[in-house]
Amino acid sequence: MSRVVVCGSLNIDLALTSVRRPAVGETLLGAQFALSPGGKGLNQAVAAARLGARTAMTGRVGRDPFGRALKAFLRLEGVDAKPVKTDPTAATGVALIQIAGRDNAITVASGANAYFRTADAAPRPRAGDVWLAQAETPLATIARLFTEARRAGARTILNLAPFAPPPASLLLATEILVVNEIELAQASGRRVGAHDPVPRIARACAILRARGPEVVIATLGAQGAVLVDGAGTLVLPAPRARVVDTTGAGDCLCGALAARLAAGDSPRTALRYALAAASCSVERSGAAPSMPRPAAVAARLRKP
Ligand SMILES: Nc1ncnc2c1ncn2[C@@H]1O[C@H](COP(=O)(O)OP(=O)(O)O)[C@@H](O)[C@H]1O
Ligand SMILES: [Mg+2]
Repeated sequence: MSRVVVCGSLNIDLALTSVRRPAVGETLLGAQFALSPGGKGLNQAVAAARLGARTAMTGRVGRDPFGRALKAFLRLEGVDAKPVKTDPTAATGVALIQIAGRDNAITVASGANAYFRTADAAPRPRAGDVWLAQAETPLATIARLFTEARRAGARTILNLAPFAPPPASLLLATEILVVNEIELAQASGRRVGAHDPVPRIARACAILRARGPEVVIATLGAQGAVLVDGAGTLVLPAPRARVVDTTGAGDCLCGALAARLAAGDSPRTALRYALAAASCSVERSGAAPSMPRPAAVAARLRKP
């Protein structure tokens, strides 16, 4: 099995749950607090590792207790965290999530993630590697890493989440582009949604495919996913799930896709597996903690 190398964000998620949001100037007692590892990069690395891929992660954390905790968490999950650099001055990335009833408000301080550079301790790319990145770290860095990876004969998957305008060189160095329905509309400039007819979604994917990627995958939440490649359009429904929490569903799909490519599957076969994995993840709460093991995904794939 080839190696998966995840380039991306590492955050600490701080979740505060209260009956309502405090007014400006007010102190509100009685909230609950939970701290968990997060960041799309870290979540995707955990998904790939749990599904059996030899996985390394590169990115940046701060020289603080949060940074040390994130690297320790990755090691516990079997991810090689040595290529995660410690920034001498910036703090570890933090997402402050304020939950009040059904509403949530999230503030992100990217911190060290914003200073991720190619000179960081990224592993040297090897033929057959699968490199996987998102858009929570600078895209100029990802573009350079992917260009070197492709030159070395590695595969590359870009999850353009959250949407940011990608440099042309990044799309040219991307073999598989993964976007959800919102990012698809933003990146293609087309008004398109998850409930639109498949040809309309496929046309938006084709616009992006014309900019470089061999394969474009649009994930559509409960509607599943649409894949567009040189052979045409593949529509895959999402396996039915008892939804508890969809946080991290897209991260699970991307990590699983990378793991199966590294195991030798084609993108089409890997996507079928990744949808089953994502459907397992929505049945458990949290992002990284909800990533499934191979046995759960195999059981889901056997279901009619
Ligand atoms: N409500 C849901 N019911 C069933 N599967 C879901 C649901 N939400 C997400 N999924 C699964 O997770 C995948 C990724 O979710 P999606 O919402 O498209 O990505 P993102 O988390 O990036 O917005 C979907 O393609 C689907 O397989
Ligand atoms: Mg979604």
